[in-house]
Amino acid sequence: MAASTHLIHIDRLERHFAMGANVVRALDGVNLNVEAGDFLMIVGSSGSGKSTLMHLLGLLDQPTAGVLSINGQDAAHCSDAPLSRLRNRHIGFVFQQFNLLGDLTVVENIALPLVYSGVPKAERRARAVASAVSMGLGDRLEHTPAELSGGQLQRVAIARALVNRPDILLADEPTGNLDSVTSGEIMQILYRLHAEGHTLIMVTHDPLLSAQGTRRIRISDGRITEDTPGLRVRSRRARLRSPRRSPAASSRCQPRPPARGSGSPICSASASAKGSWHISCVRR
Ligand SMILES: Nc1ncnc2c1ncn2[C@@H]1O[C@H](COP(=O)(O)OP(=O)(O)OP(=O)(O)O)[C@@H](O)[C@H]1O
Ligand SMILES: [Mg+2]
Repeated sequence: MAASTHLIHIDRLERHFAMGANVVRALDGVNLNVEAGDFLMIVGSSGSGKSTLMHLLGLLDQPTAGVLSINGQDAAHCSDAPLSRLRNRHIGFVFQQFNLLGDLTVVENIALPLVYSGVPKAERRARAVASAVSMGLGDRLEHTPAELSGGQLQRVAIARALVNRPDILLADEPTGNLDSVTSGEIMQILYRLHAEGHTLIMVTHDPLLSAQGTRRIRISDGRITEDTPGLRVRSRRARLRSPRRSPAASSRCQPRPPARGSGSPICSASASAKGSWHISCVRR
């Protein structure tokens, strides 16, 4: 397969889940190209496949069939190690439920992805503090999630998503649990990140927000049924984190076993960040 020139290239992507004797075709042949500097708003009714697509884009899950490449690298058929490197390098993920660890402080939560990247402790703290400060959390560094408001929790989650300096930020209903004022504050942060050059892909149920990207993408029954321009222009400052080049031998995609019908997401900082191992690990 020739390397794609798109930041994200998706061709006939499928994700099926076996449910007893039935198969749920959560994604049923998705075709989509995303360019650097895009801000995609993904809309669709409940159960249409939005989160399934986001999990595939975030490399937290693997497709049943089809093509998914990120920055020219195959991401659909990789084994875990090259996939983790690709994820660490390019992708930050923000969840509706924040997914922070209650026993860790703000700084420790933000630093967690750097543990997985093998960054030394002192540098982890310095980068996490800088990321927290950039989200206006400089006076909350040693607080735990229980001591924060909803908007502060989501800002911690965004700071954590950005700490690896990804070029792509994925956000699955990032304002879904917030009141309208706090939701507006979080959106201002996301617009700023876009203007600074990040590529964003966001799921929303809010019709007003859905027009505020560079494109609105509608998913129905696991397929894209609409791809229309939004009010925002593609960010001119968009840059890939590193020049496109052939992957080094160590990071080249190695085939992995095909996806089973129903399975848990691949282990990742956000998906597996539970339990005492992570607490001792982030404090080491
Ligand atoms: N792990 C799973 N096992 C079985 N079925 C699943 C699994 N994950 C998702 N599905 C099914 O896939 C379909 C798409 O789910 P998905 O979570 O992507 O929807 P969504 O568009 O994000 O909905 P919502 O707006 O409610 O968040 C649904 O029918 C759902 O029940
Ligand atoms: Mg969803």
